Amino acid sequence: MRCKNFKFKRNYENITNNYLTHGIHAYTAKFIPQIPRFFIEKYTKKGETILDPFAGSGTTLLESFILGRNSIGIDINPLAVLISKVKTTPIEPKKLKKSVIILFDLLDKNLNGDYSVEFPNRDYWFSEGSIEDLNKIMSVIITLSKSGKIDKKTRDFFFVCFSSIIRNSSYADPSNPKVYCSPRMKEKKRNGHKFYPIKLFKEKVIKYSENMEDLFYKTKNNGVKVDFVKTNDTRNIILPKGFKKVNLIITSPPYANAQEYFRNFKLELFWLKLVDRKRLAELDKDQIGGENHASLNYSKLHQTGYREIDSIIKKLFKINRKGAYIVYKYFYNMEKSIKEYYKVLKGGGHCVIIVGNNTVRGVKIPIDKTLIEIAKNNGFKLHDYGYDLIKNRKFMIKRNNGAEIIKKDLVIDLIKR
Ligand SMILES: C[S@@+](CC[C@H](N)C(=O)[O-])C[C@H]1O[C@@H](n2cnc3c(N)ncnc32)[C@H](O)[C@@H]1O
Repeated sequence: MRCKNFKFKRNYENITNNYLTHGIHAYTAKFIPQIPRFFIEKYTKKGETILDPFAGSGTTLLESFILGRNSIGIDINPLAVLISKVKTTPIEPKKLKKSVIILFDLLDKNLNGDYSVEFPNRDYWFSEGSIEDLNKIMSVIITLSKSGKIDKKTRDFFFVCFSSIIRNSSYADPSNPKVYCSPRMKEKKRNGHKFYPIKLFKEKVIKYSENMEDLFYKTKNNGVKVDFVKTNDTRNIILPKGFKKVNLIITSPPYANAQEYFRNFKLELFWLKLVDRKRLAELDKDQIGGENHASLNYSKLHQTGYREIDSIIKKLFKINRKGAYIVYKYFYNMEKSIKEYYKVLKGGGHCVIIVGNNTVRGVKIPIDKTLIEIAKNNGFKLHDYGYDLIKNRKFMIKRNNGAEIIKKDLVIDLIKR
């Protein structure tokens, strides 16, 4: 099959990557809205349903919402679910403006809130001043919510605004997806750099409120729903009540060992109390593509049953047993997930997967080819295949353990037989 260049952006010169609420909160390895838009328009009609089983920050869900389609999201990261919900939940602009006024008013008063949070190395990542201000912001949001002055939608919107300033209120370098204190940040620490979380927070609230207002008018009365799968795990999909099957799946799974979502977002997760230390460790183990596996697992060679990737796993096993296990486990989990996609997709429906090929411990991993093989073995037919060049996207960093920078989005368009 010819490998075509999709050039998604060319189809939609009038929309930007951050239009409406797409720009709310940074998220690692998010795809551009033009990708889901292209397939939603191509394969579905208004009122139909789209599933993104690795929803991340909700790009597919938001595009579906804007285009008048129902959507269902799944993500193991509770921060991703919160961001997705907020980005797809318009708030009536007058009501939001009122809430912002009382929020800012309380922030300007010298209130001593009772919010506090403890987590490992908190005082390494945050200055005393930042901790005080961040506690104050959370106290004010919670006080307003408990007293009934703001509803749940607005409270969650403020939580996401809060989460979006955590990096810039800490000594973790904001230009690196990993929570990492770079030499530049160490220098700031030594010099007693002052952070201004309340100022940053207010700026975000104002900016994101404008985005919310645009979303509200753009999607007013469109009558579609955005829902989430309760298991939060793509390997076990029980569709929400009222949905029997979905018309389209569009998703971008993590790559084998290319991103560590829980390590990247631990500061935000701790500050919002979405996880404690124990839960973070559990989620870290359950995420697909992660590196965190018990050493007992990789003492012996595991095989997937797919010839080409198994010979790569064997080769890796000789160089690095952990690397071999990471690759095996990745495809094992992806096969489990693909079986679930087959189960919930309508006959003749498309399942579009966007991936990139990376290297693990210096060995090239043909993620696209292997996923196609797995999908074919589980009832799908390859309908189309191609790529899109990644330009200027906050995407991958080169890691010292050999995970490579990913320069192309590979597009696998499958159809359920
Ligand atoms: C490449 S990101 C998706 C980004 C998304 N397309 C966007 O635009 O924001 C992959 C997502 O898969 C999620 N993930 C990893 N393992 C998972 C699992 N077992 N079940 C559900 N989601 C999982 C991660 O938390 C991450 O948000």
